Amino acid sequence: MTSSLLERCNFPLQDASNYREAIALAFERVIASGQVILSGGVQAFEEAFAAWLGDGFTAEHCVGVGNGTDALELALRCAGVTPGDGVIVPSFTAYATVASLLRIGAVPHFADVAPSRPVICPLEVERLLAGRHSTRRIRAVIAVHLYGEACDLRSLRDICDHRSVALIEDCAQATGTMYEGGSIGTWGDFASFSFYPTKNLAALGDGGMLVLGRQSDLSRLRTARRLRTYGWNREREAVEFGVNSRLDEVQAWILWAKLKDLSKSISARRSLAGRYRDLIGPWAGQEGISLPGDGINWKHSYHLYVITVHPMVRTNILSRGVADGIPYAVHYPLACHQQAYIAQRLEATPVHLPHTERLAASVLSLPLNPYLTEQDVQAVSSHLHALVSVV
Ligand SMILES: Cc1ncc(COP(=O)(O)O)c(C=O)c1O
Repeated sequence: MTSSLLERCNFPLQDASNYREAIALAFERVIASGQVILSGGVQAFEEAFAAWLGDGFTAEHCVGVGNGTDALELALRCAGVTPGDGVIVPSFTAYATVASLLRIGAVPHFADVAPSRPVICPLEVERLLAGRHSTRRIRAVIAVHLYGEACDLRSLRDICDHRSVALIEDCAQATGTMYEGGSIGTWGDFASFSFYPTKNLAALGDGGMLVLGRQSDLSRLRTARRLRTYGWNREREAVEFGVNSRLDEVQAWILWAKLKDLSKSISARRSLAGRYRDLIGPWAGQEGISLPGDGINWKHSYHLYVITVHPMVRTNILSRGVADGIPYAVHYPLACHQQAYIAQRLEATPVHLPHTERLAASVLSLPLNPYLTEQDVQAVSSHLHALVSVV
């Protein structure tokens, strides 16, 4: 029986069914090991992930945790962020990015995105750091590689070094993105990854990785591992603050198996994205549509394929998509500073981020995952063309 476009768009289920054998084997390995928490699977995956990150990274730098939000929270804690400290963060991101710093009691300082990109603008970061208040020390900058698109890491690294603040890369959506020939996640003092089932490298449930920068000293490496388990030392004595956020053994073995295929799966995403560009590119400009693509020193991993369209056109596309069985989506209709919980807290000092607000009103995600076919991309492109040319 052949599957439909809608079924192929369900990446978590497609992926689970593609990796049925590896998943069964993961359970077998855990049962055979006789040790179900923080054992061979987590160790093997931390080693494999370090090798995948490349030169200078070892298993010591990679700490498997419960999810990407925890990985960010632990990165912030390792960076010394305490209640009341400021953290510069883009408002245009998954809400989880901001939730991680709120959990510590830190204060978000929202930076706008770059004028024609969905990622943080280094000039904005510089402006916020230059104007920082002495009462609210800014300790960290979170650079979110949204949709799989790389931030301007070279500029951000320079700014953070110059101002002595920690750079944290939120790579939840960017596993497989390349920057200046190396993997994303290797420029920050810390990086966080998510293996949520929709992500480029997907667990069959939750999972995450905290990555410590190459320069981390022994004390930082030890602290990060202790943070993941109640602040326990080897003797199981709590010597500092800690949480419970352990990567599950079964998930670790599944991720270990899938990591071997990651480059193949990113290539498939990139080639479908290339087809979208071939098919939509020739008429996109005249319809006011912009398409994503690589930068001069980085390569997109296309976790999401996000275009921008006129807001009124978007509303029409979304409703026709539902009727015609094409799951267009919006990531994200509200920026973080527009979410009720944050907006209430910003009431006294409202934030206005023009580029962010424009993006929130105009971004549109087209279906994309490695299980889609050439015909799917053609069908979506034609559907889109028919809708934008009648408006
Ligand atoms: C940009 C970004 N940061 C952080 C996270 C949090 O990851 P998780 O859902 O694994 O906690 C996500 C996941 O949705 C994300 O997209």
